[in-house]
Amino acid sequence: MKPVKVGICGLGTVGGGTFNVLKRNAEEIARRAGRGIEVAQIATRHPNPKCDTGATSVTADVLDVVNNPEIDIVVELIGGYTLAKELVLQAIENGKHVVTANKALIAVHGNEIFAKAREKGVIVAFEASVAGGIPVIKAIREGLAGNRINWLAGIINGTGNFILTEMREKGRTFEDVLKEAQELGYAEADPTFDVEGIDAAHKLTILASIAFGIPLQFDKAYTEGIARLTTADVNYAEALGYRIKHLGVARRTDSGIELRVHPTLIPADRLIANVNGVMNAVMVNGDAVGSTLYYGAGAGMEPTASAVVADLVDVARALTTDPNNRVPHLAFQPDSLSDHPILPISACESAYYLRIQAKDHPGVLAQVATILSERGINIESIMQKEAEVQDGLVPVILVTHRVVEQRIDDAIAALEALEDVVGQVVRIRVEQLN
Ligand code: HSE
Repeated sequence: MKPVKVGICGLGTVGGGTFNVLKRNAEEIARRAGRGIEVAQIATRHPNPKCDTGATSVTADVLDVVNNPEIDIVVELIGGYTLAKELVLQAIENGKHVVTANKALIAVHGNEIFAKAREKGVIVAFEASVAGGIPVIKAIREGLAGNRINWLAGIINGTGNFILTEMREKGRTFEDVLKEAQELGYAEADPTFDVEGIDAAHKLTILASIAFGIPLQFDKAYTEGIARLTTADVNYAEALGYRIKHLGVARRTDSGIELRVHPTLIPADRLIANVNGVMNAVMVNGDAVGSTLYYGAGAGMEPTASAVVADLVDVARALTTDPNNRVPHLAFQPDSLSDHPILPISACESAYYLRIQAKDHPGVLAQVATILSERGINIESIMQKEAEVQDGLVPVILVTHRVVEQRIDDAIAALEALEDVVGQVVRIRVEQLN
């Protein structure tokens, strides 16, 4: 059978990795796909010193690839929203299948892109957009298709996890580790996407859609970054038996779907609490299977290329199939998507770690306990660091049971209004993940 012809747009970290893996594993890939997968053209403005492109046609204009009649599958690896969206829509218009690693594009414009792809009967595959090399989209969309998914929670930004790990284990500074993550090709072009949780929210939006069968709704995701975490909170969390991870959580409840990214205390003995460095991990809980865990490299040249090439093999196999009988883009049939709403963060429920700077007076703990109990907030554990009294202030750290966020907001406002409490109360959400 004739080889499938692929055009790669973007020869940066992921594009370079994809080119090299396709070349190195060509024989193995052809044995799986049933035919060869050949790179017919590459669009890049800069040569990648890690790629020997040899006789492959190279252009500086992505539209050359998109309009090349020889090409069956366009691989979009330029990132961003504007040109990437234009080239993907044009490729679909031209009847070409698309493989992309662009989570921002899918999370923000995916509904429009998939609608156009359905109209044209082409596939848009995006396994590499979430958790790098971990085939978590395929696992949820196909492997767990028999389940009603209850919740998922994941460490889905490698850069952020790398920063938290290096800070905790080696005491390195935030800026120093971020710089290394950029040099290693993990970080986004704009690294605030990593540290402020935007990249994780893009990925969580995609995972929630395929888990619950809802349209992509990135604008409704709650996002909180890691830049304000302090070493003191990391250490207090450890003393209470927890690790702090930057987690994306999507949970189905009767009133709606929680969609939130924020620093989270996780019991230190959970497997996911021990996922370190650039590694990602996603837990998915289904009603039939229970909890499952997917682990692997979440960023980097060849791990991400592994997912791009797997999509290429899938598309190559599906080229001759009836478009109406393919796996739906968002796992559920497009006319069966649910309108279950995304909940605002104030309606989401979790447990909370609170750190209060209190004056070292008799009766302060009683006032704190009263404020919490008046709002029906149950305390799981409390720790007062008498040894750390400074300027007459003592840190009081407590962990609550699960409660709706609005009640914690009220309690924090009341605590901050106390004469014996100084400054802002630190609040970090806690998930048991069991
Ligand atoms: N910047 C992303 C991360 C790259 O660090 O996870 C992979 O999506």
